[in-house]
Amino acid sequence: MHIPTSWKVLTTLLATTTNAHSWIEQLTVINPSNGSFVGTPGYPRGYIPRTSPDFNDDAMTYRLPSNGVNLTKADKICMDTQTSPDDQKPDLPRLQVQQGSAIALRYQENGHVTEPQNQEGKPPNRGTVYVYGTTEPSEDDRIIDIHKVWNKDGTGGDKRGKLLATRPYDDGRCYQVNGGSISKNRQAKFKHTADQLMGTNLWCQTDIKLPEDAEGGKQYTLYWVWDWPTLPGKDESLPNGKPELYTTCMDVDVTGKADTNTKAQAKYDDAQSLNDASIPGQFAQLFSPGSGSGLQGTASSSVAQSSAVGASSTAAPSAQPLFHFIPLSSVFLLSPFPSSS
Ligand SMILES: *[C@@H]1O[C@H](CO)[C@@H](O)[C@H](O)[C@H]1NC(C)=O
Ligand SMILES: *[C@@H]1O[C@H](CO)[C@@H](O)[C@H](O)[C@H]1NC(C)=O
Repeated sequence: MHIPTSWKVLTTLLATTTNAHSWIEQLTVINPSNGSFVGTPGYPRGYIPRTSPDFNDDAMTYRLPSNGVNLTKADKICMDTQTSPDDQKPDLPRLQVQQGSAIALRYQENGHVTEPQNQEGKPPNRGTVYVYGTTEPSEDDRIIDIHKVWNKDGTGGDKRGKLLATRPYDDGRCYQVNGGSISKNRQAKFKHTADQLMGTNLWCQTDIKLPEDAEGGKQYTLYWVWDWPTLPGKDESLPNGKPELYTTCMDVDVTGKADTNTKAQAKYDDAQSLNDASIPGQFAQLFSPGSGSGLQGTASSSVAQSSAVGASSTAAPSAQPLFHFIPLSSVFLLSPFPSSS
C-alpha cells in the first residue's frame, strides 16, 4: 500500500505520543553541594539507546500486568532482558556511586505529561513512581511480592529490600516539545539549551538517595516502577478502571564512603543549567535534616505537588475523543500499533 509521506509522518508522531512509554534512560549522581549532576552517567540493565540500530520501543517497554487485567504471580518485576545484573551491556555500564549518594533516574515523558488528553482516566500526577532497592536481587523477583509490599522500613514481604521513594511521574518540570499548552508553558518557564542527549526536550526525573545498607564495595539493585492506572468510572470502556505499570531494573556499583561534610552543607543552586539539574523539591526531600528515605507520602500529596507546579490545565481528563485532530480517513493507520489504553 502506498502511504503518503504526510501520513507516515503522522503515524510516526502518533507512535511516539501514544506508544512510546517510559523507561529509565540514564542514572546520574547528584552533587549534594548544589543539586547539579556530576560525573559519568550509568545505564540500566540491557539498555538499548534510542540511537542504536537495535532500538525500538518494544525493546525497552515492559508493560504490566501481562494479562492486561490483574497483576499475577506470573509477572516478573523485570523484563526478560533485565532480570539479572549480568544483563548489563559492557559498553553501557552501571553507575559508579559513592555510599549514601543521591541519584537522578531520568526518563522521557513521551506526551504522558504534556498531552494528558491522549489517555482517558489517568491520575492527575500522571501516576506514581515507586523505587525499591535491594542488596539481594533475584532473577525470579515477582512484582506482586515487591510492589506495595516492600516498605520503607524493610519489614515488608520477604524483607529482602525496601521502598526508597515514591514520586509523582510528573516531576513538575519535564516536557516534550509539542504544541500543547502544558508543553508551551513549560518551554517558556524551564528554558534550557538543547543538548545532544535530550535535544530540545527536558527529561523527567526520579531523584533518590542510596540507603545505608547500600555499602561501599558492593552492588545495589534498584527497581523503578511507574504505576499508571486507569481510574474507575473515567473511561466508558473500562468502568472498573485497570492497572497499568511499567518497570526498569538497574544496578549501581557502590564505591567507598560519601563525603559527609558536603552532605551537611547540601544546598540547591537555582542558577544551574536545567540540563544538569536535579529537581529542587526532590533534592530538598533527600537532603533536608531528618528527611530520612525521601518518601513522598500519600498519592494525594503527590497530586497536590504536581498540580502546584504549573500543571494548571491538566486537572481532570477531558471527555475529548482520542486524537480528535486526526482526519478519520487516516485512523486505520493506527492499527499496526497496539492500543495504549
Ligand atoms: C482482579 O483482581 C480483583 C481484585 O483482587 C478481583 O476482584 C478480580 O476478580 C480480578 N479479576 C480477574 C480477571 O482475575
Ligand atoms: C556544583 O558544585 C561543584 C563543586 O562541588 C562545582 O564543580 C560545579 O561547577 C557546581 N555546579 C554549578 C552548576 O554551579
